[in-house]
Formats: sequence, C-alpha cells, structure tokens
Amino acid sequence: MSELQRVTKTFTGYLKRPDLYPELGRKVIKNIFNRKSAFRGKEKTLAWAKSNAVSQETAIAELFGIEMKPFDLLFPEELRTAKKREAECPVKMGGAGALELIYAACEFTHAQSVVETGVAYGWSSLAALLSLQKRTGVLYSSDMPYLSQDGDRYVGSVVPEDLKSHWKLFRHADKESLPKIFVEAISVDVVHYDSDKSYEGRAWAYVELHRHLKKGGVFISDDIGDNSAFQDFCEKENIKPTIVDFEGKFVGAFVKS
Ligand SMILES: C[S@@+](CC[C@H](N)C(=O)[O-])C[C@H]1O[C@@H](n2cnc3c(N)ncnc32)[C@H](O)[C@@H]1O
Repeated sequence: MSELQRVTKTFTGYLKRPDLYPELGRKVIKNIFNRKSAFRGKEKTLAWAKSNAVSQETAIAELFGIEMKPFDLLFPEELRTAKKREAECPVKMGGAGALELIYAACEFTHAQSVVETGVAYGWSSLAALLSLQKRTGVLYSSDMPYLSQDGDRYVGSVVPEDLKSHWKLFRHADKESLPKIFVEAISVDVVHYDSDKSYEGRAWAYVELHRHLKKGGVFISDDIGDNSAFQDFCEKENIKPTIVDFEGKFVGAFVKS
C-alpha cells in the first residue's frame, strides 16, 4: 500500500466512525501545527536511556526483588497458541513487548486492577490477564483501531476466549477511553502505556495514569526513547525510573512511592 493509499484509507476509516472524530480533529491540528513534536527531545532521552539501561532480568530483580521467569517456560501452551493466532491474523500489527516485566509487575502488586493503553494483537493484555485471572482481577484496555487496515476486529487476537471475562476493552482514542476507564477503575495496581507515541499524547496520559496508580503500584511505559516525554515527566515528579533495554528499544518503569 502506498503512503497516499494508507492516508486515504485512514481518513475514510475515520469518517465512518463519528465516535473517533475528536481524535481525527486532534490529528489534523497536530499535523498542521506540530509535526515535529513526535521526536521532541529524542536525542537527549536516547543518551539518558542508553547510559542507564539494564536488562529486563535486572529490572525485575531491582524493581520487585524477584527472579525473572521466561514467559515461554511459565506459559508454553498459551504462548504457542498466541503465536499461532498472530501468524494467522490477516492484519499486521506491532509485536510482543516486555511480557515478563508486565507479568512480574502484576504478580508483585497482587494486581486486581490494571490499565493499559495500546492493545494491537494483545500481547501485553495477555501477559496482564494471565496474572489477573488468578485473583479474578480486571484489565481495562484503551485501543484505537488500525484504521488503514480495517484492523478493528483483530484487536486483541492473541487473547484466548477464557481470559476475556477479566477484560474490558474500550475501543476509542485514549483521550476518550481513559476518562471512561477511570470512572470504573479509580485506583489501579499497574499501568502500561503503549499507544499514542506523540509527546503530547504521552504527557497527557502519563499524568492521568500516574494520578490513578496506587502507592506501591507499578508504572510501565513502552518506547520511551521516541521523545523526552517520559524523562521530562519523571524529572518533574522527581522519580528515578528503571530503564529496560528491550530488543533495541527502551521501556521505562517505576514503583510509585
Ligand atoms: C504498539 S501497539 C500496542 C501493542 C500492545 N501493547 C502489545 O503488547 O501487543 C499500539 C496500539 O495503540 C493504538 N493507538 C495508537 N494511538 C492511540 C490513541 N491515541 N488512543 C488509543 N490507542 C491508540 C494503535 O492502534 C495500536 O493498536
């Protein structure tokens, strides 16, 4: 698909979904007035992340005082089925992230309530749900579909049916979904950010997610090297995060004090 075809398909997708018009408006304004904001402060944050990053194993030990157990040893059958579902999915989306970190965060907090932004195939959802199911907890997810690929119905493809009773998926942009989620999940054990990668999107959501995170709860954000939103947020709040070097990208995490 050419860039023009992709943009046209995305725009047509938006037009068919009046519930996504607020996000369309924000995207149009951003693309006219604020095109460079996606990479604001990227250089300084990459240098900061590189000089502080540790492995996922070290991060789990540092943050939670527990030993990392590889996901494929903990859940071999679930992982095999999920990979098969991903391979069979006709729409191509982003792949799995630091599943062990998400799972360990839920185990460490004995999570009853988890909020995540960004679902795609649902790898992070699967990691959280496999822990939450033990305590009949709930995962609240916010995800806007891949409009250029008619991806709506494939969101969360790798999540098996038996885990879905623990899952509430809000299919709008974060700015619409998160306020609805926080009506139900006032105080949460773990938050995982992996959706709108713009500086503004992150800056807005980090404040909201942090405000609703319990003391002792775990904050995780994916791809923190895209721009300096995560670093700036941590510096403003006087937080010293753990940074994970995960397959060439950086994940930020901390326990709320
Ligand atoms: C990297 S993927 C998420 C991957 C997922 N966490 C996993 O582990 O499989 C990012 C997702 O965020 C969604 N997204 C992007 N911008 C968004 C926004 N403003 N609000 C909600 N979802 C958004 C995309 O449609 C996509 O499904």
